[in-house]
Amino acid sequence: MVEKFEEIKRNLQDEIRSIDAQKNAEQLRVKYLGRKGIVNDLMKRIPTLPIEKRVDFGRQVNSLKNEIADSIDALIKRLSAQSVSTSKAELFDISLPGKPQFVGKKHPLTQTIDDVKEVFACLGFDVAYGPEVELEYYNFEALNIPADHPSRTDFDTFYIKDDVLLRSQTSTVQIRIMENQKPPIRIIAPGRVYRPDTVDARHSFMFHQVEGLLVDEGVSFADLKGVLYQFIKAYFGQNIQMRFRPSFFPFTEPSAEVDISCSLCEGKGCSVCSYSGWVEILGAGMIDPNVFKAVHYDGEKYTGFAFGMGVERITMLKYGIGDIRLFYENDLRFLLQF
Ligand code: DAH
Repeated sequence: MVEKFEEIKRNLQDEIRSIDAQKNAEQLRVKYLGRKGIVNDLMKRIPTLPIEKRVDFGRQVNSLKNEIADSIDALIKRLSAQSVSTSKAELFDISLPGKPQFVGKKHPLTQTIDDVKEVFACLGFDVAYGPEVELEYYNFEALNIPADHPSRTDFDTFYIKDDVLLRSQTSTVQIRIMENQKPPIRIIAPGRVYRPDTVDARHSFMFHQVEGLLVDEGVSFADLKGVLYQFIKAYFGQNIQMRFRPSFFPFTEPSAEVDISCSLCEGKGCSVCSYSGWVEILGAGMIDPNVFKAVHYDGEKYTGFAFGMGVERITMLKYGIGDIRLFYENDLRFLLQF
């Protein structure tokens, strides 16, 4: 008899293993525990047994019955848990509109540099780059700013060691290009520059410049004016006015500072233009003969012009941004407006 019980249990476990639907589990319950089921068949045998064996047998059948009931209950529980998770998957509505994907975009300063590159590409300028960690020679001496030159203070500089520094102007790239190429040269050089300025709404210890350089035979100040005119109209719009003011830079002669009519108040006068209607956007001039000497160019044969402008500055003027620090804080509320 004991063997018979063991066989019933084994069969039950085999059947449980192959069942994957709740409905089949119910059929299994009927087969083992139902009125005409296997356990009831065993019960029916009790009256046919000798009296002394009936109690013992009855107890064994009962415990078999409980064991089977437990196994089938556990099976049903497991199957119903599985069906809940499938029905959750079925709840997914594929017709719902998708969540919008956040697409990254370029930083406004990168966009400005791209815009500037595009305008100058149309005028035939290539793009050149130079190192941010630079030799003193390229930042100063070769640009006609010797050690005792008073204008050195205008380009206050972070030194790394004696003759190595963080460049304080992109004019360094002029020298590096001219050292390696013969005229004609027509390049712009965008990049970071560093100056030990106290940070406020208009100053930062790191900012960006775009340098321009054109060298060829017969280049005149009129060419400089023409190129800058084209750039300013293309970048700021046709209604913007431009004016040249005489100025001084050691590496150009003559030198000028270029103002545009204030794009924020349209020349009427506001706090950004100090109520003058004009704002300075760049320095420029004809290459100084001493600079040509430093790169072994024939100053009799070639002439050229250079200019340098602040990327933050033109971006602030174009979009009416009042604080330079906004560019470096990575606040998405600011960045996403561009
Ligand atoms: N390097 C100057 C500065 O940082 C700007 C500048 C002025 C660049 C005149 C030039 C130039 O190429 O010709 O203030």
